[in-house]
Amino acid sequence: MTLNRRSFLATIPAALALPRVARAADAGIEVYLDEPIGTISSRLHGQFVEHIGGVVYNGVWVGPDSKVANINGIRKALVDAMKPIGSTVVRWPGGCFADSYDWHDGVGPRASRPRRANFWTDVGRLKSLPQSTPSKNDPNEFGTNEFMQFCRLIGAEPYIAANLRALPAKDFYQWIEYCNSPADASTLGKLRASAGDIEPFRVRFWGVGNESWGCGGEMTAAEYSVEFRRFTAWVPNYPNTPLSFVASGPNAGDPRWTREFFSAIAAKNPDLFNRIWGWALHYYCGTIGKGDSLNFSTEEAYELLRSADRMEGLVRQTWDIMGETDRQHKVKLVVDEWGDWHNDDTAVAPHHLFGSIPTMRDALVAGLTLDTFHRHADKIAMANVAQLVNNIQTLFLADGDRFAVTPTYYVFRMYKDHREGQSVRAQFSAPAIGYAFDGKNQHVVRLAGSASVASGRLTLTAVNNSVTDALETTIQLRGGSAKEARGEVLTASDIHAHNDFANPEAVKPGPLTVEAAGGSLRVKIPAASVVKIQADLG
Ligand code: AHR
Repeated sequence: MTLNRRSFLATIPAALALPRVARAADAGIEVYLDEPIGTISSRLHGQFVEHIGGVVYNGVWVGPDSKVANINGIRKALVDAMKPIGSTVVRWPGGCFADSYDWHDGVGPRASRPRRANFWTDVGRLKSLPQSTPSKNDPNEFGTNEFMQFCRLIGAEPYIAANLRALPAKDFYQWIEYCNSPADASTLGKLRASAGDIEPFRVRFWGVGNESWGCGGEMTAAEYSVEFRRFTAWVPNYPNTPLSFVASGPNAGDPRWTREFFSAIAAKNPDLFNRIWGWALHYYCGTIGKGDSLNFSTEEAYELLRSADRMEGLVRQTWDIMGETDRQHKVKLVVDEWGDWHNDDTAVAPHHLFGSIPTMRDALVAGLTLDTFHRHADKIAMANVAQLVNNIQTLFLADGDRFAVTPTYYVFRMYKDHREGQSVRAQFSAPAIGYAFDGKNQHVVRLAGSASVASGRLTLTAVNNSVTDALETTIQLRGGSAKEARGEVLTASDIHAHNDFANPEAVKPGPLTVEAAGGSLRVKIPAASVVKIQADLG
């Protein structure tokens, strides 16, 4: 292998390449404006809404008769809060729930819909709650039409996960028919129209099972490849609605699952790669059984950030394995579950399974992860944070008429400006953070980020993982110069800072001073912060 100077430098650890003594700044960022990676799809900023805990009932859905302000049953505060971040794509109804869900239960007159045991009915704190709890036994008030209404209200594309474990393929075809058939073309189209939705929903994205290696059927990859083919062969198509199928991919990058599935597809017929739009990778970092969402040490914070940063390697590894057989990379990656998973927090309502109160630490995880997706804009076609409200890496806390946005919400809002921009290569250099954990010396990246260009404007986002040290940072623009620059920062004096119902504005973004001087910018990036820097390019 021959290396040019730039790729040689990229192989040197940041601490060696940029000795502190040789620089006036603590950190350096080089942005290569003429080295495009790919367009950052808006869909990389998607969310996930599962019928789990407090996500749907008491989260998205309060019901039309609720005292809580709502739009036909959908929580108005949530719709209003989504407007500034402009949602892009929402995955529903699960997760593990999807492979137990019969979509027929959630259509037709609401009053006559059945109540069914939820997949999660006996998990964790739900176990001891009354049977009337909607997250234990689903009243099916929120079904396909209600989900579609929610998508319309927040301007998102729908992405529906179909049941591959517990229902036959026929029910999948019929769900597509219900959603996409013209009203006068079929009985199911007519049923949809009778609920007021005369125009087809035109749902393009369909997940074919979920975690089929686990809750979605405990299959081998070879078994799943057969089921995937069977479910997606001869699916009904409707006018102006191309279908894009997402296959159930690996748990945290499990190389075997990806290799076996792709080999089985290639062995049958490599043309079948044209039928797979996305390969769903799931990865959660978190502190389950190892810590607490609100109380944690600096070392525990670094350990979590290190595990969040694994996403980079998982994306590369999974992509490379896909390419062993899908040589032209027809199939793209879809990270349709990611997030920062903590133990249930007792401050959260007991029926909000997997609910905790996110802190600034979780905002750093969100920034690290979204930046990773941007850097791999050529590989990743969609991503969905788990989950939108009251669950895992939530953007919102909601309970009755109380509502708050989390620090993670603000990261999505700040990062919005990357959408549909051209991701360009950027090199972030700062000494790694060393710390001791469980008797071992560990390192976590100190400064990471991504850069994109759209309409003559550079957007650069970055995360400073250091809990203690701000970083004086010089940003060199290679292949352009900056006329004017400005910034925004999300930080707090304490990494444990969070928003809750009592104090909903403890953490929110503020302005950040950026100095522009031709080909370079200078900025001080506070400790434990997420920053956005924008510059008009000359
Ligand atoms: O997001 C919560 C659960 O985590 C999902 O239902 C499942 O797919 C994953 O294991």
